[in-house]
Amino acid sequence: MRRTPSHAATDKQTFLSLFSGCGGFDLGFVQAGFQCLGAFDVESIAIDNHRANLRSPAHRVDLTDPTQFETRLPRADIVIAGPPCQGFSRAGKRDPNDPRNSLLPLAAEIALTANPRAIAIENVVGVISGKHSKHWERMESLLRLRGYKTTKLICNAEQLGVPQIRTRVVLLAWNTGSENSLALPTAPRVTVGDALSGICDSTPNQEPQPLPENSAAAKIAARIGPGQKLCNVRRSDAAVPTWAIPEVFGRTTAEERSVLEAMVILRRRNRRRDFGDADPVSARTVSNFLGRSASVLLASLVLKDYVRKIGLLYDLTHTFNGKYRRLDKSSPSLTVDTRFGEPRYFLHPEMDRGFTVREAARLQGFPDTFRFAGTPREQYRLVGNAVPPPMALAIAKLFRDRLLPS
Ligand SMILES: C[S@@+](CC[C@H](N)C(=O)[O-])C[C@H]1O[C@@H](n2cnc3c(N)ncnc32)[C@H](O)[C@@H]1O
Repeated sequence: MRRTPSHAATDKQTFLSLFSGCGGFDLGFVQAGFQCLGAFDVESIAIDNHRANLRSPAHRVDLTDPTQFETRLPRADIVIAGPPCQGFSRAGKRDPNDPRNSLLPLAAEIALTANPRAIAIENVVGVISGKHSKHWERMESLLRLRGYKTTKLICNAEQLGVPQIRTRVVLLAWNTGSENSLALPTAPRVTVGDALSGICDSTPNQEPQPLPENSAAAKIAARIGPGQKLCNVRRSDAAVPTWAIPEVFGRTTAEERSVLEAMVILRRRNRRRDFGDADPVSARTVSNFLGRSASVLLASLVLKDYVRKIGLLYDLTHTFNGKYRRLDKSSPSLTVDTRFGEPRYFLHPEMDRGFTVREAARLQGFPDTFRFAGTPREQYRLVGNAVPPPMALAIAKLFRDRLLPS
């Protein structure tokens, strides 16, 4: 593979960014004093946002096709990469054969063609467990075979100044000498309340969408307090079951609710499989648990659509583990993902609505000077897919101060 052999005319240490997205990972490196010589992503909207904010060369290319980028890889001190994580993520199906999984070792192969002094590749922690780890191991051995030392660091966003629970793993590779006991510099804890303070109507990307009055979503949101979620499959103070919201899901009697509560416990206690949420239960199991016959009540709950019949067994109808999750402003946020604008998944801590793009970006640690453009869906995707810039900054400082002495 050919590449441009020239060094850039800069005193700064330089980097290339593969699978750059809008540049969350890149921003941390720029903040640490590195200069971006080229960013590469297949999506035009990612490249447009990268160019507008980071003002460095960004190229729309498919990184699986070397002919599209081989002449555009200048020499740089470090190559950073954030290949897609969907095939590895615990939030997804975790298909070991998801074709996107091969993009992880591909990131290492492309990085090696640029012959950098160091490489950083970020992903979800699911990538280092189970069958999926073969992709990670392949990537690591490719780098070691080429003489790089490697280590992996687990990055906990909330310890790095990000107001969010988000755990990621980053592979560090370097050929600049040996280094022991590498650790990320920590930063004070930041809460949702801290992160959202000071946002006003004129803040960029701040376009709140209140839930329509009297809609089912507004009625559900009105019943969900900070730190709570709509959830039928677990019993805790944080779980509000659908039968606690009769104005949306329909009325039940106290006896029917005792059957529903029993089913929440029994369907998990009597599990026959180790995957999925839990298993349906028999009328006899419910009756034994309650000490009286549950058959009539179960039949009534089927008619009311709270329970469904599966062969001779019964199960709850709404078995999602959490919707309408309302953040608590005194804690760090749940992991910001690409659905953060959708109130049926995440609710603002004090208002009955989802998060604006700016609020999601603040929870990811983006400064307000970083503006997002595109359709709302595209903007939320760019924000949710990004490496939080403060996490990126901590990684960049480790390279700057320990692994890439000038
Ligand atoms: C997890 S996101 C990267 C986010 C980025 N690290 C950040 O901090 O903003 C993964 C990116 O890989 C890009 N991508 C997926 N397949 C690609 C391909 N074949 N070639 C180039 N980019 C690709 C996606 O468009 C997406 O922007």
